[in-house]
Amino acid sequence: MPEFDPELEKALAQLEKDLANLFAPEQPENSPAAPAVDMSVNLAGMTMKNPVVVASGTFGFGREYGEFYDLSELGGICAKGLTLHRREGNPAPRIAETPMGILNSVGLQNPGVDAFIAEELPFLRQYDVKVIANISGNTPEEYGIMCEKLAGAGVDMIEVNISCPNVKAGGLAYGTRPELAAEVTRMAKSHAGAVPVMVKLSPNVTDITEIAKAAEGAGADALSLINTIRGMRIDVNTRRPILKMNTGGLSGPAVLPVAVRMVWEVANAVKLPILGMGGVSSGEDAAQLMLAGAAAVAVGTACFADPFAPLKVRNGLAELAVEQGLSAVSQLTGGVKPW
Ligand SMILES: Cc1cc2nc3c(=O)[nH]c(=O)nc-3n(C[C@H](O)[C@H](O)[C@H](O)COP(=O)(O)O)c2cc1C
Repeated sequence: MPEFDPELEKALAQLEKDLANLFAPEQPENSPAAPAVDMSVNLAGMTMKNPVVVASGTFGFGREYGEFYDLSELGGICAKGLTLHRREGNPAPRIAETPMGILNSVGLQNPGVDAFIAEELPFLRQYDVKVIANISGNTPEEYGIMCEKLAGAGVDMIEVNISCPNVKAGGLAYGTRPELAAEVTRMAKSHAGAVPVMVKLSPNVTDITEIAKAAEGAGADALSLINTIRGMRIDVNTRRPILKMNTGGLSGPAVLPVAVRMVWEVANAVKLPILGMGGVSSGEDAAQLMLAGAAAVAVGTACFADPFAPLKVRNGLAELAVEQGLSAVSQLTGGVKPW
């Protein structure tokens, strides 16, 4: 039995602490600029204390991130995509790295809308943060049923993901046809009561403004964009696609310029407020989306690399607004000066 050496014990404890600090994600400094600027924004009547939301599918239901910081620091949380019934998702591999982003084919793994209402919503409600439920359906009727349940449960907003296939229309994604997008939007609106409905647009279309206008015409209260861009990676040795589903959705910094362009186009085509997202990992990225026309921004893939990313984006936005002499961050919205 080796002898107990208190000095060695102490040194080991210190080493353990140093290693933990070395690998812990770097916490953001509290921005000294933050109090000088009004960070609140309004998204379709929903007031948030700051414009930073976390994107659906990249933050789970908040439990894991809640171990890093107080979720009340965020403006809003878009919960993981829900379906009417529980789903196991797609077979692995379903995440692949790419230069400046990731491809995913998770396939909406989730516990189902009822389990969300019973188990996850009460957890999120402990925090002073807006809760946005994100839904996907196989049919317009499924969207209606989920909206009714979620409105009854008291979520702050419902985000309608239309990047999913319509079973009845032969698998065509709702988000690729104006008439299908309008049908789902009408169904969601007629079952959501007073809860605002935000339609999430797919970038996998020729003209995103056509879909945006269809959703506006069908009564949407807000729009969010962009969802992931379809992509593919191939292992040249096995000649197999890296993802088991062959293709997947691209997200992360690589998609930011596409998101900025699409937010700008949509903002010029409709009057609805916009939640902009796609590749945001800094205050400057978020400011680009706001200048293009977004009222608020969501941070997605960046959360995987750094759980504190949404807070860093918030602080960076506040600093940028102060540097530019703004009294409110909302003054950025739509401020781009096109040539
Ligand atoms: C792993 C993963 C899962 C996602 N799941 C959903 C989802 O369930 N519903 C949805 O509307 N969008 C989902 N998205 C799309 C994101 O919410 C977001 O629109 C997209 O990733 C672009 O933002 P980002 O580049 O900041 O990640 C998912 C994205 C990723 C990477």
